Amino acid sequence: MVADQWTFQTKLLHNKHKFDVTTGAVSVPIQHASTFHQQGFDFSPKYDYSRSGNPTREALEEAIAELEGGVRGFAFASGMAAISTAFLLLSKGDHVLITEDVYGGTFRVVTEVLSRFGIEHTFVDMTNLHEVASNIRPNTKVIYIETPSNPLMKVTDISGIVKLAKANNCLTFVDNTFMTPALQRPLELGADVVLHSATKFLAGHSDVVAGLAVVKDEELGNRLYKLQNALGAVLGPQDCWLVLRGLKTLHVRLQQSQETAAKLAGCLLNHPAVEKVYYPGFDDHPGSSIQRYQAEGAGAVFSFQLKDGKAVEKLVSNLNIPVFAVSLGAVESILSYPAKMSHAAMPKEEREKRGITDGLLRLSVGLESFEDLKKDFLQALSKIEIETKTTSS
Ligand SMILES: Cc1ncc(COP(=O)(O)O)c(C=O)c1O
Repeated sequence: MVADQWTFQTKLLHNKHKFDVTTGAVSVPIQHASTFHQQGFDFSPKYDYSRSGNPTREALEEAIAELEGGVRGFAFASGMAAISTAFLLLSKGDHVLITEDVYGGTFRVVTEVLSRFGIEHTFVDMTNLHEVASNIRPNTKVIYIETPSNPLMKVTDISGIVKLAKANNCLTFVDNTFMTPALQRPLELGADVVLHSATKFLAGHSDVVAGLAVVKDEELGNRLYKLQNALGAVLGPQDCWLVLRGLKTLHVRLQQSQETAAKLAGCLLNHPAVEKVYYPGFDDHPGSSIQRYQAEGAGAVFSFQLKDGKAVEKLVSNLNIPVFAVSLGAVESILSYPAKMSHAAMPKEEREKRGITDGLLRLSVGLESFEDLKKDFLQALSKIEIETKTTSS
């Protein structure tokens, strides 16, 4: 069997960098050098300065390119650095169509930064292809999607968007943070740029902030490389190594977390204190069939809305297992409050228009046992139920 026929699970471990060719070390060496000695005037070295190229960063960039099915990967200092650098493929006067419940940081870049440089935008409901089509303008150059979206887990039809984009000469950018290439590979569906907050599932241990971008077109890769080198928001070698180490266990972490997430989402769905659970793994989720077509699972994140929006604080303070924090995709379960965390950069009225209300919580399920998580949620929910009954009687 040859390497390109191996499953994703095997490719995570057995790639060009499985051992160091000079020493045999079964771990990518961390090359801290900022600069590299040049043999002579006419010698053009592979590496000359670490902003332009670094062997540890290159190992990570090659690994993510292979896993996403691209030709070129780029590692950045954060997910936002990757996203912002990719947006600078655009020029003054260009227009971006962007999903309306996009991550708050991306919302901020588009509305407060790109707008100052004459790059226009329109927010649309990406699940509605007619709405997307009718908002494409002659100057639209990028359609930007997140699927499933954060935090309402809406599913966008990647192939449908790609068709519209290609027909209108636009690029499709996909933020693949929630799914990772273990579950969804947008380049194989025709997308042009895949973006990641590698801070999340890819690194997976809440110990590094990192971003990645992958393209499948050499020319686009050259343009993005030029921007990466020009802007310089590169990922340091130590952090590249942390992401590379995290990647090795991506498959097993995500499988385990996803299995627990599906069971836990089902428990919350039937709980009297819970109004709604947003999880694309449910058969009655409006995007479930698209999710099944374009991804190999529904992921390990879901959101839920409490009947009594004011009880969020009480619920959070009664839970013992999940950390209450900004972020997702880690070994420990992370509970977050989108209104004040991931979407704090979005004005309240914009948030509420998008359904990101004050009673909404998002859970990223980690590697704890399902039984322990279930017990913890049930005891915390029962406390708010009792309180709601007492205050209303
Ligand atoms: C979907 C998504 N995209 C991008 C980002 C930004 O990534 P980073 O925090 O690594 O800059 C985040 C961060 O939460 C995210 O959730």
